[in-house]
Amino acid sequence: MDIRALPKAELHLHIEGTLEPELVFALANRNNISLPWANVEELRELYNFSNLQSFLDLYYQSMTALRTRDDFFDLGLAYLARAHADGVRHAEIFFDPQAHLENGLEFEDVLGGLSDALGQAQGQYGISGGLIMCFLRDKGPQAALQMLEIAEPYVGHLLGVGLDSTEIGYPSELYSQAFDRAGELGLHRVAHAGEEGPPEYVWGALRALGAERIDHGLRSLEDEELVAHLIAQRIPLTCCPFSNVRLKAIADLAKHPLQVMLERGMLATLNSDDPAYFGGYLGDNFTHTIAALGLNDAQVVQLCHNSIAASFASPERKAELFALLAAAVE
Ligand code: ADE
Ligand code: ZN
Repeated sequence: MDIRALPKAELHLHIEGTLEPELVFALANRNNISLPWANVEELRELYNFSNLQSFLDLYYQSMTALRTRDDFFDLGLAYLARAHADGVRHAEIFFDPQAHLENGLEFEDVLGGLSDALGQAQGQYGISGGLIMCFLRDKGPQAALQMLEIAEPYVGHLLGVGLDSTEIGYPSELYSQAFDRAGELGLHRVAHAGEEGPPEYVWGALRALGAERIDHGLRSLEDEELVAHLIAQRIPLTCCPFSNVRLKAIADLAKHPLQVMLERGMLATLNSDDPAYFGGYLGDNFTHTIAALGLNDAQVVQLCHNSIAASFASPERKAELFALLAAAVE
């Protein structure tokens, strides 16, 4: 089976996490920004993380090179070209505007550049999708509300809101007001939870934030009641095995619970998170994870099917994608 060619959706991808070191230097050069690293090799040598925070520190530092609407367009389109090569037909893309506003950008430029990239990819590659604006947990609940207020005039250009950055110490419940407001605005709601934090963070995202999908949810299996709830409610988990290995949430790919999740009938999906930092894009995540876990063809197709089912694509678009998948496995 040609795994890369199978039609699939990517649902957990931070566009800033596709910032390759070469592009960091190219953008810094174009924007006249000085970087703390001498060259690409020196930056790449730092891609050796001990946990989520050690990655986030470098992630935020690298993204200071992003300064203009064009930068976001180029970043978005570079990702979508790679996604297309990996069989991605639908992409729901996270972005972290609070970080860019701190770097002096206007929200409109960030959103405009990324929206234009999605528009171009739709025409060029037939990829559908949308943008999910993430609140940074470590900026706190008030900052999340302020960010949502800034975004309100552009709400029609957003698919939903998410919650990311440092997990432990910032329980999901803190952001309930921002998520309630996002719901009133008609936005979808997702949240990172159970990446490093215990199952309580997943419960919090479900109960206090109304999260429709859980990003990672790796530690959900520690709580049988939670597993039963996720199965009964068909709540998707967006798993990111390369990320979990690189951030030391699991020891190696063979220990990833993805197969157990599938066997238990959970709506688990496979995603790349921050592919420039974690060793590969979605195609690589598929091929290496499948090999490490020994997933069979039916499970591989199930992963693609789950990604479409768990997406926020319209019923018509989902039907199209399911038909493409069925044709590809015939
Ligand atoms: N921001 C970018 N990648 C992230 C991750 N894996 N977890 C939390 N926040 C993030
Ligand atoms: Zn993530």
